[in-house]
Amino acid sequence: SNPSLSNNGLPSVIRKKLMGYVGFANLPNQVHRKSVRKGFQFTAMVVGESGLGKSTLINTLFNTTLYPPKEHLPPSAERPKTVAIESIGAGEFPFVYPSDFCSSIFSRTDIEENGVRLHLTVVDTPGFGDFVNNDDSWKPIVENIESRFDSYLEQENRVNRTKIVDNRVHACLYFIQPTGHSLKEIDIEFMRRLHTKVNLIPVIAKADTMTDEEIGEFKERILSDIAHHNIHIFQAPTYDNEDEETIAEHEEIASKIPFAVVGSDKPVVTPDGREVRGRAYPWGVVEVDNEEHCDFVKLRQMLVRTYMEELREYTNDVLYENWRTEKLMSMGVAQDSTVFKEINPAARMQEERVLHEAKLAKMEAEMKMVFQQKVQEKEAKLKQSEEELYARHKEMKDALEKQRADLEEKKKKIESGRPITPEKNSTGRRKGFLRT
Ligand code: GTP
Repeated sequence: SNPSLSNNGLPSVIRKKLMGYVGFANLPNQVHRKSVRKGFQFTAMVVGESGLGKSTLINTLFNTTLYPPKEHLPPSAERPKTVAIESIGAGEFPFVYPSDFCSSIFSRTDIEENGVRLHLTVVDTPGFGDFVNNDDSWKPIVENIESRFDSYLEQENRVNRTKIVDNRVHACLYFIQPTGHSLKEIDIEFMRRLHTKVNLIPVIAKADTMTDEEIGEFKERILSDIAHHNIHIFQAPTYDNEDEETIAEHEEIASKIPFAVVGSDKPVVTPDGREVRGRAYPWGVVEVDNEEHCDFVKLRQMLVRTYMEELREYTNDVLYENWRTEKLMSMGVAQDSTVFKEINPAARMQEERVLHEAKLAKMEAEMKMVFQQKVQEKEAKLKQSEEELYARHKEMKDALEKQRADLEEKKKKIESGRPITPEKNSTGRRKGFLRT
């Protein structure tokens, strides 16, 4: 066997000891510094029926009033319903209100934590389910996600693409009504339309309206519905070389999906005098940040602390890539690189399908040709034998005709009493008789 190959057939790596300091151990720090300087772009979308607390949860998640606080609104105004898809940036925002608050687009701004900047955009979608006919309510949302892919693709295709702004939706929080039954038709329809285009993170809204036991059973039913309909929800990847603690943390987060959440943008005071984010009831306070009370902390961990980068990566490497391949192929762009095919299973499958279909079409055409040829040959043969038959028939007919004419001739001669020619007569007697 070849000593330079390891047992899996790949070239084996020779580990060498360094004689002294080189400095590449500092590479991760370089990456770190650079990404801190550049900041991060992240776009989250919230989807779900009307009034499930989407706006409230976004404010709670980023611990900032992305939505104008109520005191900024005119006295009569409740926070209005979301009626159009809108992009909302965090932090200080120049907002136009109150007449057209809902449809105004807020400029995107940054939030900062310990010197790390995050360009956060939240895409709020109008709550659906209010209409008699909700058939196509998923359409504008899918179109919004796709138009963001379009814009990214367009930027990639520019001559100068050093300043690409990533406005793609990296995560979609899907709000489920806390009914305690199972998923509704409309939820399944929505998730089925969205799951190939965006990282879906299902959440049970207003979990303070259900008991722990009810939530447990509801979660099971939701997960089995999701599995039954082959809906792909975002699964955090696990890596082999991780330590036990990290693995346990991953498992802990995964075990809470779909996250049962409670949102609140106002602080409340607990009976023991602590000021917390929560919802006050006559019998006590439901605390947003208390893991005994709801899964809010785990959701934030999934979305921000642990998997933000994974969400961005999956969006770029899988969701966007598949969409892009499909789009380019549908525009007639041929596959060009084998490397690309190797790293993109969807593209490879698509190409294999096209090749296979072409092969089938060719086979069919060949079979048709052979068939036609055979039919033609047979027809020609038939025609030929028909002609031969006809010719023979004619020949026979002619011969018979001739015989008949001869006989006719003879008959006429006999009837007119003319002597028969001697060579045709075999008996002398007859000859003599005729002479008299
Ligand atoms: P649309 O914009 O119409 O789609 O509504 P939304 O989903 O953004 O709901 P919003 O955040 O405006 O909240 C609707 C109502 O639910 C408000 O009265 C909130 O105070 C209340 N609410 C929000 N979150 C929770 C929660 O976790 N539990 C309970 N019980 N009520 C909540």
